[in-house]
Amino acid sequence: MSRIAYVNGRYVPHRLARVHVEDRGFQFADAVYEVIALRHGAFIDEDRHLARLTRSRGEVRLAAPMSDAALKLVIRETVRRNQVRDGIVYLQVTRGAAPRDFAFPLAAKPSLVVTARSQRIADPRLVERGIAVITLPDQRWKRPDIKSVALLPNVLAKQQAKEAAAYEAWQVDGDGNVTEGTSSNAWIVNDAGEVITRQADTGILNGVTRLGLFDIIARAGLRLVERPFSVAEALGAREALLTSATNGVLPVVRIDGQPVGEGRPGPLALAFASAYRAFMEGLE
Ligand code: PDD
Repeated sequence: MSRIAYVNGRYVPHRLARVHVEDRGFQFADAVYEVIALRHGAFIDEDRHLARLTRSRGEVRLAAPMSDAALKLVIRETVRRNQVRDGIVYLQVTRGAAPRDFAFPLAAKPSLVVTARSQRIADPRLVERGIAVITLPDQRWKRPDIKSVALLPNVLAKQQAKEAAAYEAWQVDGDGNVTEGTSSNAWIVNDAGEVITRQADTGILNGVTRLGLFDIIARAGLRLVERPFSVAEALGAREALLTSATNGVLPVVRIDGQPVGEGRPGPLALAFASAYRAFMEGLE
């Protein structure tokens, strides 16, 4: 089956899908995006993702390419044409094509690209084994709360993780505190049983999976603490984990080559991963 992409009003074969060379997404990364997971053909937290897209657009004064109702139809049609049941939908909104000039163009219309692809979501093998992370300086701009496509620092950090045989890189701010992963949020569990993740101010992306895990933590009657934590605290933590739309909840078992806790997925991380999976399966 050949893949189909939606590009500015048309459904086109993926290999022929193009935006203009002067599209501002290409020229300036003047664009925002979302990634929504699908499980058994159902969208996971679609409304929260679309609300975050609206927020990201608003923060950079980017007009809506269409209403949310129309966008939902395009998303569904793209998923249908690609026959995706388990996978992701990727949405990108740019400030459109215009002669290259840093200031906003007067006339450009926002571009919208929607693609969908099948892929394994929240891979159970990774949950069982747990994953390794490395830490490195957070080199991003000061507004990672905006889901911008300007991802070069994230790309470089993820490559460094890969070269170190790690799954993710945890980025660290000037105070020695972990901000988040390159494409996931970072969490620890301390000896008091507190579940700790950085507060969603302008320093991190407020993950939709993060918010989903908040609901699970509240239902379990556990104590959630939103505050920064240092690399040293994470190394001494009882458990560590990460969350993202594509990974769900994954136990982190090594940080910079050092084991976290016993060096095996912790009981809470495993419980969260299975509760999140149940949520994705529509069991909760
Ligand atoms: N990334 N932090 C960053 C920097 C991210 O890029 C992401 C998501 C997250 C987790 O957010 P959510 O739970 O809403 O997926 C946190 C997506 C998956 C990506 O870029 O592929």
